[in-house]
Amino acid sequence: MSDLDVCVVGEINLDLILYGLPKTLELDRELLASGLAVTLGSSSAIFAHNLSALGTKVGFVSKTGGDALGRMALDRLAAAGVDVGHVSQGTGGTPTGLTVILPQVQHRYILTFPGTMFEMEYSDIDMEYLRSARHLHVSSYFLHRALRPRIVDLFREAKYAGLSTSLDTNDDPENKWDQDLLEVLKYVDVFMPNDREIKKIVRTDDLSKALNVLAELAKVVVVKRGSAAAICRSGSEQCSLMPPRVKPVDDVGAGDSFDAGFIHQFLAGATLENCLTFANLAGAYSTTANGGTEAFRDRSAFDSFVNEHGKRVGPESPSLKSGAIEKMGN
Ligand SMILES: Nc1ncnc2c1ncn2[C@@H]1O[C@H](COP(=O)(O)OP(=O)(O)O)[C@@H](O)[C@H]1O
Ligand SMILES: [Mg+2]
Repeated sequence: MSDLDVCVVGEINLDLILYGLPKTLELDRELLASGLAVTLGSSSAIFAHNLSALGTKVGFVSKTGGDALGRMALDRLAAAGVDVGHVSQGTGGTPTGLTVILPQVQHRYILTFPGTMFEMEYSDIDMEYLRSARHLHVSSYFLHRALRPRIVDLFREAKYAGLSTSLDTNDDPENKWDQDLLEVLKYVDVFMPNDREIKKIVRTDDLSKALNVLAELAKVVVVKRGSAAAICRSGSEQCSLMPPRVKPVDDVGAGDSFDAGFIHQFLAGATLENCLTFANLAGAYSTTANGGTEAFRDRSAFDSFVNEHGKRVGPESPSLKSGAIEKMGN
């Protein structure tokens, strides 16, 4: 028997960041960077890493190319206590994915080779292992090209086995936002898009309308909104809470860290308001260091951040009864 809390099914790659490049990237020249960072990238892996760092028992199901990059990424996850024993290796020669980030003054180039993240299939997943967890989480819905047609089966199976579930689509690189997702949402307990994504999914500019539509499908809908108030909606009840004020260094992985904070409290039986408070703390905290996981490698610094910025949050009965709740008229 496993004592797994959360099984994350998702993609894994490294982020390679070159700092201090010239403002203009000239072709055919040897351009020098002044700094280099190799950090764990990809939404699913960042979520798994940071959730494990918070103290939840996490298992990671994925596919790598069985190469040095894949091993480095898995080592980073394992160092945070994530069980990586159910990650499969491709045999077709496709390498593990890699993202190269070239920060400029206010913007950055982001170049991604997806690698094996496009190849993981339903048959690569050890369903018995998944069923041994209390909760299933999937990130990056639109990046799982081979798995996507069966993500609905994955969620149906998880619900049938008694797991709770969460999903963060992240962006659709093709900007199509196909509506097969709506079928999956019927089996999702906590759906966690950002402001732009939820509007794209519902094909509207009106956030309230988007929330009304998706609250009919997923049990809880949580919307991330950068430095603005995050929103949590369950049925006809809704609360919105501001994240702490921070001077962000890097917002890569803020959404995944927010998800990790929310699910950590959700599984501890906290109220949805406390889940949202803790999610805001984790999201804001992640922006205080480079990359998506660097901040969470220092657990005591997170505890200090919570002491400084947070009100007390802890497990309570899961209800939405609190002063911060607004009743929605339909
Ligand atoms: N500048 C910021 N100040 C405070 N909190 C932030 C900031 N940026 C992000 N966060 C926190 O991280 C969460 C996720 O960030 P957001 O950028 O909205 O999501 P995503 O990374 O998915 O696009 C926010 O809802 C908030 O809690
Ligand atoms: Mg996101």
